[in-house]
Amino acid sequence: MAETDVQQVFAILNLNLDDYFAPEVVGFFLAQWPEGQFVATDLTGRVVGALCGARLDGGRASVSLLAVDSGSRGMGAGSALLDQFRRACVMSGIGMMQLEVRTSNAKGIEFYRKRGFTISERLPNFYNDGGDGYRMVCVLSGISPFSEGCRRRWSQRPRWRRRGSRSSCRRPTLRPLGPRRPRARCCSGRRRRSRRP
Ligand SMILES: CC(C)(COP(=O)(O)OP(=O)(O)OC[C@H]1O[C@@H](n2cnc3c(N)ncnc32)[C@H](O)[C@@H]1OP(=O)(O)O)[C@@H](O)C(=O)NCCC(=O)NCCS
Repeated sequence: MAETDVQQVFAILNLNLDDYFAPEVVGFFLAQWPEGQFVATDLTGRVVGALCGARLDGGRASVSLLAVDSGSRGMGAGSALLDQFRRACVMSGIGMMQLEVRTSNAKGIEFYRKRGFTISERLPNFYNDGGDGYRMVCVLSGISPFSEGCRRRWSQRPRWRRRGSRSSCRRPTLRPLGPRRPRARCCSGRRRRSRRP
């Protein structure tokens, strides 16, 4: 997003989101984190969608505003904006994205859910008109070597059985770079004699 896009972004946000935003709001986002602001344009260069992001403490970032013009929806602009933002977060070392969405915005909630976000809490009276919101989060880091199913099975085990290695996990095995060493043979390396004469 460039300074020259601010007026068009301001118009898109106010036409497509329920709350009113002053033009300074977009300028504020651009000033605080230029790499976290994106626009989607059509072939003529007209802005048809925008995403304003904010850096939060604790290695988090927020999708603060996201809207696509009603005539340009369903063509991938919203997904592309979110993808670009996700990439910017990863490049900036952000570990978690979060956002707030009206509980009544079923399409918006589904849009985010399909793109990796989950509802973390309900926010009563979150909006200016008293409307409730959901906070949705998407974790970008903390990749676990254990699959979710495996983690569940592990925690369901009785405590006395939790010792030892989680052998059922498909844990990646690490080895130093270079050619593989030949496997150690059993039976002290001696080959079995053939019984045939
Ligand atoms: C949510 C929003 C940003 C998505 O933008 P978009 O450009 O339509 O997004 P995409 O085209 O990438 O995907 C939209 C999904 O809706 C489907 N869709 C099809 N036609 C559609 C249409 N006319 N309008 C909206 N969505 C449509 C798409 O197939 C896609 O489905 P999928 O999730 O199975 O892939 C946009 O709908 C919007 O601005 N909504 C109003 C503001 C809003 O709710 N913002 C988010 C909450 S703050």
